[in-house]
Amino acid sequence: MAELILGIETSCDDTSVALVDQNGNVVAIETVSQYEIHSEFGGVYPELASRAHLEAILPVIERVLTSADITPLNLRAIGVTRGPGLMGSLLVGLSTAQALGIVWEVPTYGVNHLRGHIRSVDLDGKSLDYPALVLLVSGGHTLLAYLQNQYSYELLGTTRDDSLGECYDKVARTLGLGMPGGPAVDRMAAAGTACVKFPRPMIKSGYEFSFSGLKSSVARYVETHPEFDVNDVAAAFVDASLDVLSTKVQRAIDQKKLATLAVVGGVAASPQVRARMQHITEQAGINLCLPSQKWATDNAAMIAMATWDYIEQGLEKNLEPKPNLRLSDS
Ligand code: KG4
Ligand code: ZN
Repeated sequence: MAELILGIETSCDDTSVALVDQNGNVVAIETVSQYEIHSEFGGVYPELASRAHLEAILPVIERVLTSADITPLNLRAIGVTRGPGLMGSLLVGLSTAQALGIVWEVPTYGVNHLRGHIRSVDLDGKSLDYPALVLLVSGGHTLLAYLQNQYSYELLGTTRDDSLGECYDKVARTLGLGMPGGPAVDRMAAAGTACVKFPRPMIKSGYEFSFSGLKSSVARYVETHPEFDVNDVAAAFVDASLDVLSTKVQRAIDQKKLATLAVVGGVAASPQVRARMQHITEQAGINLCLPSQKWATDNAAMIAMATWDYIEQGLEKNLEPKPNLRLSDS
């Protein structure tokens, strides 16, 4: 039997456990979402998140191992997210992984969640061609990175305030749509027309992002236009954010020699984002690499996949939680 990595992801509000082989085949996975727990707060409530992880983690690990008929003897390693994320949530995954690693005598690696998102495109037997530009758009992060090869991560720009996923969630709330906000905004936007022109923050130069002004503009518009059309406002918001993303991506395509554009993170599940990126890469004659929808949002398969890099590179087994871990940190 192929050697497997047991991946554990608890950085935010999903308790996820997966078994993945070196070719990116996902042998088993289970993800328990906490949407219902947090929906009444309109965002993730950190203390409730760590409590829910604590309740879910051991049963989920047991079910994943049992469903694949795997014993700890089949494990090459355990890989667990050590940041970025919520401290209490990270600690649940890390302390569980550490204890199991000691008892089972399996090497245990702390993994960078951002590198996990990037590796999500290598799941299901696919592989990224380099040099690659990576656009990571999730609930916690928005960044552009240049990867000369599999192990070099050059950060081109990140967000100065809100992430794009956060902005989708806030706009969903402003429009009276439920959580998770992203898919709800997508659905409304698909039925609307972008007849309002919202600002495109920081579009003119560089690779940095800012989304809080866009979010406030949507809130102000809704407040001052009581008969607003939900679909049209959603469409105008999506149009503004897509213009920002695509301008920055095009800038990098013009300035760098690239084989591939990869778009990862929860917002990469958006059909509008996928379609726009498809168009840009076709025009530029480079590959587009998208994770399948199920690997775009947080999951443990991508963490297990990234763990193979830690083993191949001989990186330290560091189980220290780091809520502010950066892309350049291992
Ligand atoms: O990657 P992810 O699961 O968690 C973080 O690492 O943050 O991303 C979650 C974010 C949420 O803000 C959610 O609204 C957004 O991804 N999202 C979407 C879609 N599905 C999830 N945004 C736009 N369209 C979607 N279909
Ligand atoms: Zn994430």
